[in-house]
Amino acid sequence: MVEIAPSILSADFARLGEEISAVERGGASVVHVDVMDGHFVPNITVGLPVVKAVARQTRLIIDAHLMIEEPGRYAEQFVEAGAQMVSVHVEIDPHINRTLSAIKSGGAMAGVAINPATSLVSIEEALPFADFVLLMSVNPGFGGQKFIQTSLDKLRRLRAMIDERRLGTRIEIDGGIDRSNINDVVAAGAEIIVAGSAVFNTPDPAQAVRDLRNATAQWV
Ligand code: DX5
Ligand code: ZN
Repeated sequence: MVEIAPSILSADFARLGEEISAVERGGASVVHVDVMDGHFVPNITVGLPVVKAVARQTRLIIDAHLMIEEPGRYAEQFVEAGAQMVSVHVEIDPHINRTLSAIKSGGAMAGVAINPATSLVSIEEALPFADFVLLMSVNPGFGGQKFIQTSLDKLRRLRAMIDERRLGTRIEIDGGIDRSNINDVVAAGAEIIVAGSAVFNTPDPAQAVRDLRNATAQWV
């Protein structure tokens, strides 16, 4: 099943509740929250209080994408705050299997996130510990960047890697997705589609989610 996960990074934070209600009306099933610490990535965004506030406001699944140093120290706190999906970057966690297991023990789905320039080999051993892989199709840090075209081939190779091992790991893709390329990423094996600017930098975010869903209707 294809799921649309709007990233609130591009939302109007002064009207966050309304923005989330709008994407819920449009048929989104996941809210993607980009947590950045100004160290792992060159930007600072939001953290635990915002996840808690969003959890009070919506019944959608909250997906915390941790772009922070020492993710192992904080991952469980995001589960306690209400995130049902938590992803951790392989580039910054030398004990990622332990972190993924801790996220799962807390009752959430655990994701291994991987940057565009990081080889898939680096997540091979972590795959059996992960419920999903978050494949970055831009360099993390900012919304509104251009989709890196080589991500499509990487996505196909990741799909094959998971299928060969007969794992049920789902693939989430993040960065530069809009109506023009959503079909390509779904065809290549992605199931959870993050979209920030393509949803919130439009006059009608509910309709933008509907349009993305309609674009993938053939895959449902
Ligand atoms: C980038 C973030 C993304 C971002 C996506 O570092 O991880 O989730 O918000 O935004 P768009 O869809 O505009 O590329
Ligand atoms: Zn993200």
